[in-house]
Amino acid sequence: MKGVKILSTGYYLPEKILTNADLEKMVDTSDEWITTRTGIKERHIAADGEAVSDMAEKAASQAVERAGISKNDIGLIITATFTPDYPLPSASCLIGEKMGIKNVQMFDISAACTGFIYALSVAQSMIKAGISKTALVIAAEKLTAYTDWADRGSCILFSDGAGAVVLSESDEDSFLGFDFGADGSFRKLLYVPAGGSLNPPTAETVKNRQHFIKMEGNKTFKVAVSRMNSTAKKALDKAGVSAEDIELLIPHQANIRIIEALARALKFSMEKVFVNIDKVGNCSAATIPVALAQADQAGRLKRGDLMELVAFGGGFTWGAAVIRY
Ligand code: UT7
Repeated sequence: MKGVKILSTGYYLPEKILTNADLEKMVDTSDEWITTRTGIKERHIAADGEAVSDMAEKAASQAVERAGISKNDIGLIITATFTPDYPLPSASCLIGEKMGIKNVQMFDISAACTGFIYALSVAQSMIKAGISKTALVIAAEKLTAYTDWADRGSCILFSDGAGAVVLSESDEDSFLGFDFGADGSFRKLLYVPAGGSLNPPTAETVKNRQHFIKMEGNKTFKVAVSRMNSTAKKALDKAGVSAEDIELLIPHQANIRIIEALARALKFSMEKVFVNIDKVGNCSAATIPVALAQADQAGRLKRGDLMELVAFGGGFTWGAAVIRY
């Protein structure tokens, strides 16, 4: 069977930075509360008119350039996002258009913060099935378009950004083990009540702030810790490796306390855990590919290293991947 390799990484974070001091002027909060309860000091915020496809195109173009391939070699674009520019068409079609790519499969995946790992599993399966030779796997989110700036329990977490990787068929296989799960019975702990087909936009839904993300943070936190722990362990088992074999753990960056609890449960020293939440915040599906690209570009990840990605998000969804870089 053919293998699949990650050829390169790319990321983009918007220029504008929102600090905890800025948030202190917007809601009843403090830098001290946000720092100790979440680990976040500042986050990047998209400019007005800057859409998911704009951020994604920048991350994807950087990944294509770093892969040293032509955009014409890309045979598949998959974007993980729940904040596409429009409900129709997909963000992937808009990104392809911005990059000058045509006549290949382009579609989006909606799995909230776990979306990038879901998209990776789909793209590598499609390459192994012979459907495409090369894929662009992107995750991009403009969470601030759905952020209720009057809700101090959630607005302090969210940010915008995009990350991407280029995958290619190869004699070696980077993807050693995946584990996934989802449970829709938790749907109302983290969701956007209106704007979809159940509750289309009306003056009433806007007035009731139903187009913003609603999150029961504390309940979400507890399920996140338990599911991230179990899915990370299962992916290690499926890959036939142990935590000691992993050089770098890249967890979803939702809250530093979740990341530390996960590292403790998995017996990873924090030196082996990539953390950028202090400067990047939580940009949902984009957090993992942004972190992966930053780790790669900072030299924290070398060819041949074993890494594990692990994520949790709305749905609820969760998943992990063990990858040889
Ligand atoms: O991205 C994937 C899915 N999302 C997550 O995994 C997020 C998981 N949840 C979290 O990260 C945390 O639950 C939060 C950071 C959202 C909240 O932290 P917490 O420690 O769970 O706080 P809490 O919701 O239990 O609230 C504790 C107290 C409350 O006050 P009382 O009732 O004890 O008087 C809140 O009203 O903290 C208060 N509070 C705040 N105070 C200052 C909530 N938000 C703030 C705030 N500033 N921004």
